[in-house]
Amino acid sequence: MNINRPEPIVSDIEASFYKHGMDPQKAIEEILNGRYVLIEDYYSSGLTILHELNNYLKDKHPDQSFQGQREFRSEYRKFSHQILLQVSDNKLVVEKAPVIGWLEILYPDLEKFILPFPQIQGLNSAWQWYKKGVSIPVLRNKIHPYYGTYFPSRFEHLHLFDNWLKRYKGAKKTAIDIGIGSGVLSFMLMKHGFQKVYGTDTNPNAIIGLNQFMSGTKLARKIEIDHGHLFAKWEQKTELVVFNPPWLSTSYDIDRIDEAIYYNDKLFPDFFTDAKEHLHPDGKIVLLFSNLAQITKVTESNPIEKEIAEGGRFKLDLLLKKSVKSASKKTKRNQTWRSSDTVELWVLSNNN
Ligand SMILES: C[S@@+](CC[C@H](N)C(=O)[O-])C[C@H]1O[C@@H](n2cnc3c(N)ncnc32)[C@H](O)[C@@H]1O
Repeated sequence: MNINRPEPIVSDIEASFYKHGMDPQKAIEEILNGRYVLIEDYYSSGLTILHELNNYLKDKHPDQSFQGQREFRSEYRKFSHQILLQVSDNKLVVEKAPVIGWLEILYPDLEKFILPFPQIQGLNSAWQWYKKGVSIPVLRNKIHPYYGTYFPSRFEHLHLFDNWLKRYKGAKKTAIDIGIGSGVLSFMLMKHGFQKVYGTDTNPNAIIGLNQFMSGTKLARKIEIDHGHLFAKWEQKTELVVFNPPWLSTSYDIDRIDEAIYYNDKLFPDFFTDAKEHLHPDGKIVLLFSNLAQITKVTESNPIEKEIAEGGRFKLDLLLKKSVKSASKKTKRNQTWRSSDTVELWVLSNNN
């Protein structure tokens, strides 16, 4: 199981240098010409160039439509990665730089290497979340998401699940949590008295992070996890199968491959085929989903609805919906589609 980490640049790389006092426009020109710029003095010098790059690309892409903003983001992503920082002895070489514990944890094998500035920013915020922890309204304790692991930033779907669990009258011996992420749903199952949860995730960081988080606590015996696709190595039948899958089909943004957010055509059919094998005869499948893809008109069909209508394997017991707070009016991006954004909790049982 190989940990996911930003790809370090270890080979010699040709770059021009930038430090405070130099003309940032020159650095932007270098970047637009496909060259790298290495920051020499302060962390803030990198921020200055990023800021200039952002302004330049905003002027170039005034179009606020979804497509226009997608082009802006894609260029920003490409060019910003040409701004580089050097890491030596697991620390950033520039001055006044944040201390980022991930540099030590994720790169024990490397003494010196280079990373693109946005990757450093990502590592830095991930370190803050990990160290300080993230409060989740339905959980007593904070979670500490490992680098590169999904964690919720909106909570409506968790309120739906929490309320459903409060009323759940079935057996609570075992459950399976597909795509366990930072463990939020499994911790909720524990809170509501489930004795044992089997979790899986295709993302190695989720598994490494949770194993480390639970190690030495009584959770380690109650939540067992395996790295793998869908049900991975678990073969037992459980009373509950929970899955908070990716909510958008890959057609939504083809240059994004994040498996926490985007699903391919096979994910749902495979899930339902395997779930048939793993669900106790009286068990329930709980899926958390959203109408985001449908209201943005990217996907017309809902993969859960499709299974119920055509699969013949499961019937719908319950569908609960909750609308999501509309996005802040202050955001400049065009997010009007957020207005009818709802999260969904689907409960399915065996059709027999
Ligand atoms: C939206 S996140 C949900 C994480 C967590 N259950 C939660 O609710 O906070 C989806 C998770 O499913 C994982 N995932 C995606 N495809 C998967 C697959 N085929 N098998 C197992 N896990 C998968 C992702 O890595 C991610 O951790």
